[in-house]
Amino acid sequence: MSEPRILLFDSGMGGLTVASAVAKQLPDAHLVYSADNAGFPYGAWKEQDLSKRIVKVLGALIARVKPDVVVIACNTASTVAMKELRETYPVPFVGTVPAIKPAAAMTKSGIIGVLATPGTVNREYTHSLIHTYAFHCKVFLHGAPRLAEIAEQKLRGHKVDMDELRNEIMPVYRKRDGGRTDVVVLGCTHYPLLVDEINEVAPWAVTFIDPAPAIARRVADVAEETKLQPPINDVPAHGTVILTSARGEASETLTAYGAMGFPKHEVLDLPV
Ligand code: DGL
Repeated sequence: MSEPRILLFDSGMGGLTVASAVAKQLPDAHLVYSADNAGFPYGAWKEQDLSKRIVKVLGALIARVKPDVVVIACNTASTVAMKELRETYPVPFVGTVPAIKPAAAMTKSGIIGVLATPGTVNREYTHSLIHTYAFHCKVFLHGAPRLAEIAEQKLRGHKVDMDELRNEIMPVYRKRDGGRTDVVVLGCTHYPLLVDEINEVAPWAVTFIDPAPAIARRVADVAEETKLQPPINDVPAHGTVILTSARGEASETLTAYGAMGFPKHEVLDLPV
């Protein structure tokens, strides 16, 4: 029986948190990771430009990898381009959106924090998740301008500036009517990479919601429901990362990908 070929996509290294969960769930799957490092970070892009960019980049990646399933392991991309992607390409997509529904079910204080990129925070999609699932909660939604970049720097082996980190996260730690934030949604796939450091600077302990395990279960279900293609030669090998700019070929970046299960790489040059 052939195993599913799965293409994971993010603007950078954040989707590796999802890739690890998928690798655990489906240990024999053929995994190819892709990072639009030419367009990173996505957080500050204008909605329409970003959506066009993502549809274009995914077109090139799908042609190269010929995946059975595509995982958009990026909240900023999923909340802006999922509909267009599904309308444009016939392959099944699994997306990543802020885990507001489980947070609302889990909070005891009724006070939830959502940490995400500025783009995700501005999306209609995110606001509608809050209105639908967390209307009975107080939700502090914060667009952290630098957190994804800080996570990438950490993976490249640089020291995290703890003061800067504290400034990025503090807006979701709030007190209200005798209660305080008890659940924080990690609404960007980069952020689980910083949980240890966030815990060090946070004013009190909270429960973090990292949606990666739930996404991995969904990927397994979709792969099972999908008619898999027969094995094809000339697609990137399992454990390959595809970059959209040769800028990402810096050795510290490639070492970081290698350590997370993607020791091979290729560049599909797609300038912004
Ligand atoms: N990892 C991405 C997300 O889940 C976005 C990071 C960025 O490009 O700013 O939203």
